Amino acid sequence: MSEIINGKAVAAEIRKTVLERASAFERKHGRKVGLAVVRVGDDPASAIYVKNKIKACEECGIASYSHCMGANTSQAELIELISTLNADACVDGILVQLPLPKHIDERETLSVILPEKDADGFHAVNAGKLFLGERDGTVACTPRGIIELIKSTGVGIEGKRAVVIGRSNIVGKPVAALLLEHNATVTVCHSKTVDLKEITRQADILVVAVGKKHFVTADMVKRGAVVIDVGMNRDESGLHGDVDFDGVKEVAGYITPVPGGVGPMTVAMLLLNTVDGAGA
Ligand code: GUN
Repeated sequence: MSEIINGKAVAAEIRKTVLERASAFERKHGRKVGLAVVRVGDDPASAIYVKNKIKACEECGIASYSHCMGANTSQAELIELISTLNADACVDGILVQLPLPKHIDERETLSVILPEKDADGFHAVNAGKLFLGERDGTVACTPRGIIELIKSTGVGIEGKRAVVIGRSNIVGKPVAALLLEHNATVTVCHSKTVDLKEITRQADILVVAVGKKHFVTADMVKRGAVVIDVGMNRDESGLHGDVDFDGVKEVAGYITPVPGGVGPMTVAMLLLNTVDGAGA
């Protein structure tokens, strides 16, 4: 029987620190730390995430500047907005919510954000710094939050076998790089991996970011493992993780719930990245 990792509680502690740092910044500079949040199109999940991020800013003393653009916004219009935000002295961080509509080139768009205003850590400069072990870049929010959740269990990362399922630029690749930075032995699995179960059963730390409801079942998990579920799969019955929580919790040592695990940490780390970026 696992211990449930309380992401909401860990996130609340981080948000307390953010509020203190944002308040000190405001007293010193006579303005709030500012985060610009850009959303393009009408993806319903993105609308929820962006609303949560804006609310979190308000609660933590960060000014949010929200820009919702229509689904047929052109690449040039989006880039023009980002350039304006880059030049705005009140904007310390910029976030472009992903996914973008299909006609917009994600890589090119993200490359326009000034690396020092890249609150998400998605710019090639920040992603590159992470892979080079340079610590002065911005680290992507969800991976940064995952490391904090693992640390909150008291289980050390160094020397452990960590398996990541999923190789996205947002979660899989950066979390693998961070686990490696923490001296884990890291394996990244994906849709073409052969004998997945043989690999996941060796994991002391298992991070699952595949986007498939209840993809990881109890037979794939080593007894006592730390299991981090990044899944956010919505259907008519609600929000579901990538891990079959009810089955896996009987085997794992520690497990994150969905909701209330990784999700609140992504938001908390965005706030932390923003105050870090402002020098608060
Ligand atoms: N889409 C899914 N996760 C994220 C995230 O962490 N940041 C942004 N900008 N978009 C996302």
